[in-house]
Amino acid sequence: MTSEKSILPRHVAVIMDGNGRWARARQKPRHAGHRAGVKSVRSTVEAAAAHGIECLTLFAFSSENWGRPAEEVSSLMSLFVEALRREVAELHRNNVRLRFIGAREELNPGLVKKIEIAEEKTRRNTGLYLNVAVAYGGRWDILNATKQLAAEVANGDLQVDDIDEALVSAKLQLADCPEPDLLIRTGGEQRISNFLLWNLAYAELWFTDVFWPEFDAKQFDLALEYFARKQRRYGHTGEQIGAAGC
Ligand code: IPE
Ligand code: IPE
Ligand code: MG
Repeated sequence: MTSEKSILPRHVAVIMDGNGRWARARQKPRHAGHRAGVKSVRSTVEAAAAHGIECLTLFAFSSENWGRPAEEVSSLMSLFVEALRREVAELHRNNVRLRFIGAREELNPGLVKKIEIAEEKTRRNTGLYLNVAVAYGGRWDILNATKQLAAEVANGDLQVDDIDEALVSAKLQLADCPEPDLLIRTGGEQRISNFLLWNLAYAELWFTDVFWPEFDAKQFDLALEYFARKQRRYGHTGEQIGAAGC
């Protein structure tokens, strides 16, 4: 089978990096870069939906990004509120299920309210799962899952010996999405920066020097082409995969 469907990732995760450097190269303030990045989010969501990808997870703000200057953090939070106000109706029209992952208790209550309204509005849609990671860290996610399992053990609802990988996965933020098949990172750095540490175990990694505000559907297609050329072996030999493949 060589249909596009068979070589498409089911889940694409994206580290949207390079907004600040994009702005600096244009003598603009960093927040102008973040603002310019919203257009790329729109094109990426449209491209993913057009290809029939099931899940798209976008890293918008990490646990560590709280350490940035207060003024940058607050302009990012305002941008999230504004983007929700502007984009949710269109996402809903396009049948997208919007969800946020991360430590939402760390966010301003006004933003949390908007997130909850957007999630509720789009909950019954049947198209693309769009997960936006805000105040998210891969370590936080694993720690959170561990605490839930520990609580079940403490209550007597779970035996330590019954804890397995599937149970840990089930407590993670993205429990109901398949693991990301493809990770895209823009902005030239080749690192994970505490994104989906558990889930990315066997993702294909695609890096581009393009800054996030310049990322578009054409770039997305390049990443998909790269993915389509990969043989995913999961620890097996190429011959084993070739023999089983079709
Ligand atoms: C990514 O762009 C957006 C966030 C991390 C919020 P950056 O702001 O990290 O841009 P660079 O890496 O400084 O260019
Ligand atoms: C990763 O980018 C986080 C997001 C894109 C939201 P960073 O710019 O924070 O990553 P580092 O600091 O370069 O590793
Ligand atoms: Mg960065």
